[in-house]
Amino acid sequence: MGDVGDTGYEDFVRDIGALAMGSATYEWMLHHVLGPEASHPGPWPYTQPAWVFTTRALPSVPGADVRFVRGDVRPVHAEMTRAAQGKNLWIVGGGDLVGQFHDAGLLDELIVQVGSVTLGAGKPLLPRAITNPPLKLTSARAIGTGFAELRYDVPTPQV
Ligand SMILES: NC(=O)c1ccc[n+]([C@@H]2O[C@H](COP(=O)([O-])OP(=O)(O)OC[C@H]3O[C@@H](n4cnc5c(N)ncnc54)[C@H](OP(=O)(O)O)[C@@H]3O)[C@@H](O)[C@H]2O)c1
Repeated sequence: MGDVGDTGYEDFVRDIGALAMGSATYEWMLHHVLGPEASHPGPWPYTQPAWVFTTRALPSVPGADVRFVRGDVRPVHAEMTRAAQGKNLWIVGGGDLVGQFHDAGLLDELIVQVGSVTLGAGKPLLPRAITNPPLKLTSARAIGTGFAELRYDVPTPQV
């Protein structure tokens, strides 16, 4: 399998100034990272401000900078850019939220880690057809025997 130390995650997250995620990802973290379903419950993992997209009232995490938002991603992106002070923005997921940023022309790189399993069914990674122009592969590397990491530049959509 892969080791998180081999993934470059530490370098990646050091350059992140703000991040955003959908409510399913946030709730997954509340249960599986902070507990009660975590094998080793830990603290909220991010020091950067985090925007959580939801139409519901969700619990916050004491001491964490988590901001709940809804609707158009563009004003949120502007707020994230101001907070990040020149550092990168990370749209953690899920795929449709990443797609909403792409629809608004606000996605410039896609990093996908592929696990060594086959799926018979499931959600598409990014429910968008990005073909005009297509994604541009910039690197592909193995992480242990369990993962491959693919990096793509996302071209500006042509209208
Ligand atoms: N492996 C990874 O790196 C990774 C990364 C991310 C996610 N995931 C996993 O992927 C799974 C599924 O993710 P997902 O695609 O279902 O969901 P998601 O993006 O985390 O959450 C989807 C939800 O976010 C809210 N939302 C999205 N866009 C919104 C908008 N513009 N305004 C208001 N609310 C908005 C809606 O929830 P409300 O009902 O709250 O309004 C929507 O149902 C999760 O289990 C997660 O753990 C894995």
